[in-house]
Order: sequence, then C-alpha cells, then structure tokens
Amino acid sequence: MPAIISKVPGKIILFGEHAVVYDFPAIAIPIDAVQLKVSILPAFMEEQSTIRIRNFNRNEDIPFSELELSDPIRISIENVCTFINLKPPHFKMTITSSIPIAAGLGSSAALAVAITKCMSQFLGINLKIEEINSLAFKSEEIQHGLPSGIDNSVITFSKPIFFSKTKTISPIKIKSPIHIILADTGKRTLTKEVVAFVKQRLESDPDTIKPILSDIGRIVEKAVKALCNGEIEKLGTLMISNHNALRQLGVSSIELNRLVKSALKNGALGAKLCGGGRGGYMVAICMPSSCEKVSSGLISVGATHVIPTMIKESK
Ligand code: PMV
Repeated sequence: MPAIISKVPGKIILFGEHAVVYDFPAIAIPIDAVQLKVSILPAFMEEQSTIRIRNFNRNEDIPFSELELSDPIRISIENVCTFINLKPPHFKMTITSSIPIAAGLGSSAALAVAITKCMSQFLGINLKIEEINSLAFKSEEIQHGLPSGIDNSVITFSKPIFFSKTKTISPIKIKSPIHIILADTGKRTLTKEVVAFVKQRLESDPDTIKPILSDIGRIVEKAVKALCNGEIEKLGTLMISNHNALRQLGVSSIELNRLVKSALKNGALGAKLCGGGRGGYMVAICMPSSCEKVSSGLISVGATHVIPTMIKESK
C-alpha cells in the first residue's frame, strides 16, 4: 500500500484578528511558502504505531502509545478515529513541517487539518470538507480554549476567506496578485494568553474595548471590498488602521511596532501584526518594486526571518 499523504499550507490573518473572537468578521489567506505534510504507512502487526516528527522544535521518533494525552498529534488522531468509529490498524506516521511554531502562521491548525485528512483516508473514509474542518476545530478547541475557528477554516479550504464565527465562511475573489512580505520578530507568546488578556480588558473596561473591536470590524468590511476590486493602496491604508487598533487593544509589542515602522519607511503600502500578537510575524503589503528594500530594511531592524510571498489571484 503506498503512503497516504496530506499536505497543507500555513496561513495568516490579513485583517480582523482578536475582534473575530467576538464575532466580528476577519480575512485570512493560505500561505504556500510554508507547509506541513503528514504521511501514513501501514505497520506490521508486531510493530508499534509510531510517529516520526521533523519540524522546528521536535525531531524525534516516538511510539504513539507514549504521546501525552494532551499532545496535539494524539488529540487529532483520536478525534478522527472517534468520529469515524474505527480504530486504526498499526501505522507509521511522519510529520514534516516548515511552519514555525506559535508564530501566527497556523502551525497547530495545519497539524490538525492534515492529520484529520490523512488519517481518515488511511481508514478508507472520504470525509466531506466541512467534516474535516469541524474535526480540526474540535482539536483546536481542546488545545486552545476558545478559538474563533478561522485558522482551521482557511487551512482546510486553502483559499482566501471572509470569516465570521457564527455566520459565514465565504471565499474571497482576489482581483489581482498582491505582493506581501512576512517578517518574524523572533519573539513568541502563546495566542491563548493574548486572547485571555483581551477578554479581561473587555470585561474590566468595555467602554474602551468595545469601540476598538467594532472599528476593526468596519476595517475588515472595507478591506474585503478593496481586495475584490484590486485597490492595493486602499488595502495598505486599511492595514495601517488595523495595526493601530491592535496597538490600542494592547496586543502589539515594541518589536512588532519596529518592524511595521521600518516596512512603511521603506515603501510598503501598509503593514500590521498578524495573528495573536505580542511577537510572531507581521505582514506588509508592497508594490513589486519596493519588495527588496522593504525586506532588507526589516532584517536591518531585527527581523529574524523574512518571507516574500504573494496573495494569489483567485476566481
Ligand atoms: O496566533 P494565531 O495565528 O493562531 O491567530 C489567532 C487569532 C485570534 O483572533 C487572536 C484568535 C482566534 O482564535 O481567532
């Protein structure tokens, strides 16, 4: 039996993080420049099921039975098996990833989606895309508390999406390709800690926080129109407004602000933090002619890694 393989992209939230937790809309896009791959082969009866992990912080071969109950790999495998109501025969799973961990590029959602897809196929079941998405969401919920579901959705559908927690997931038609640059602060903060901080601020000071969240919602509505119409300069301006709102929310950091400032100084049309914040990556939107200058500027002010990539045209 040939290996069953499932490959998924990373993602970024282009507009609307944090507000999306409170049911405002947000925009997310897949990032093919980083990927996570899961492959599964059957093992012999006398062999144990094993997991081979090759990514940034883990490089190990581990028997499935030795994974902690809270291990995201174990959670995703068990979720899909419970849903399908089948126990897998002995297997050898290999996970390779170039998606940095806890950096806002979707590593945990990519893991959940890829394992769900691959394990269900290994068990001979063709799940519907919505089933894959909701199983991946379930795995995310167990690990992260109250995620909005935007990360697993954009990775499952692998298309730019306009997302709102209780209403819709709709694909966005991108009129023309857009150059973006992602830059890593090199700092890491767990998203759930930053989400908890916003929740606490909202509860203790709703008069300040509610209007900021509503502002972000309005920015997202305008951004989706700008994306569909190919209005790149407008998109850049909206990105700057979104970053300023996130700063007011208290989820940016000195490093993120430094990268955003540098990108704008070197000719980016807009820039903002992306994901949970307090570290991780920022995204800048650029005309092709300024991409190189923006990238080298970001490195010179401390970005530890820069990924030039594109938002692809989509029909
Ligand atoms: O840090 P990331 O990429 O997982 O993004 C989190 C986005 C939040 O809006 C802060 C949380 C969520 O679940 O939507």
